Amino acid sequence: MDKRGLEIDEVLDILKEARKKDLKYEDGRILGSMCTVPHPVSLEVYRLFYETNMGDAALFKGTKELEKESIRMLGALLGNENACGFIVTGGTEANLTALWAAKSIKKSIKEDIKKKSQVIVPQSAHFSFEKAADILGLEIVRARLNSDMTVDVRDIEKKVCKDTLALVGVAGSTEYGTIDDITAISDIALENDLYLHVDAAFGGFVIPFLEDVGYRSRPFDFSIKGVNSITIDPHKMGMAPIPSGGILFRDRSLIEYMKTSSPYLTEKTQYTLSGTRSGAAVASTYAVLKLLGREGYIENLKRCMELTDYLYHEIKGLGFDTINPTMNILVFSHKDHKDVLERLTEKGWIVSSTRRGEIRLVIMPHVTKDRADELLRDLETISWH
Ligand SMILES: Cc1ncc(COP(=O)(O)O)c(C=O)c1O
Repeated sequence: MDKRGLEIDEVLDILKEARKKDLKYEDGRILGSMCTVPHPVSLEVYRLFYETNMGDAALFKGTKELEKESIRMLGALLGNENACGFIVTGGTEANLTALWAAKSIKKSIKEDIKKKSQVIVPQSAHFSFEKAADILGLEIVRARLNSDMTVDVRDIEKKVCKDTLALVGVAGSTEYGTIDDITAISDIALENDLYLHVDAAFGGFVIPFLEDVGYRSRPFDFSIKGVNSITIDPHKMGMAPIPSGGILFRDRSLIEYMKTSSPYLTEKTQYTLSGTRSGAAVASTYAVLKLLGREGYIENLKRCMELTDYLYHEIKGLGFDTINPTMNILVFSHKDHKDVLERLTEKGWIVSSTRRGEIRLVIMPHVTKDRADELLRDLETISWH
């Protein structure tokens, strides 16, 4: 650290130089990210709430009320207005919190967990479950996928054993946007008295609106009896700024086991993994939910799905093998997919690939029709080679 602080203009110049090196969503060339330009209201909200801390919520009662109301709105979107939960840093922390809850509940019932407890997740599950299992001393067991890339529920059933602690279903998988059969997974959970978590980090702001924009949906939320908790990320399709992840539990009893006393704080108890937590993230999530409402989210998704549909048909027309998209994630393949990926990168496109090696595009709100046409022209040239 410098002995003497710099002038503000000097610091700002350094920051601007650093920012110039960043890619910008607005440019429309980022086609592999699940985040996007946040709603502009966030800038004003961050200014108003920048010092607030949800880790000591008794000091910030107004901001805490906004968190409760945000969770109520998210719960209503997910079929349970009485859900309880928190705004955390993102999907990773939300998934970790869910497995923490599952483990805490079991620990409180049976004190003698000697062997590693197992969590059965689909092969399509996000890598955050590996991190969570490592931190919590759990073992991940991966269930096979069907040819449509949803989890094979019979394989989950086969893998359930006396060491199983929890099941995970994915509603909007990271790579393909597919939705698992949560109803069938819930039946297995209820039959075997297992905790069930649904990862809808991406799909949570998509699936509830799919039918409104003319697509097929699938039940995935608290309306299914066995679902104990759901991850839903406002900083993905929820248009809120980073960091905003949602973890929702069916009822308060599920979080009681995570209660920690925080004696030196004004608020004497905490339930979250993070201590100090951004109240600005909470307030801007609230503001965006209120400003957009259901109609705003439907409008947003409609644009994304129209563009996804357009790209799907055009890319198919160029001779690529294309998977019919469930949501605004488009996956296609080519015999020389590595070459196609390299050429797209050379041309300035930021695309990603799946573990199987397909090319993956996420059609977020920052992708425009003009950029989509430009991409198609580049793909056409590439496909000729
Ligand atoms: C389904 C799913 N779950 C969890 C995560 C992790 O979210 P985050 O990167 O916000 O921690 C992602 C990220 O893309 C995801 O797609």
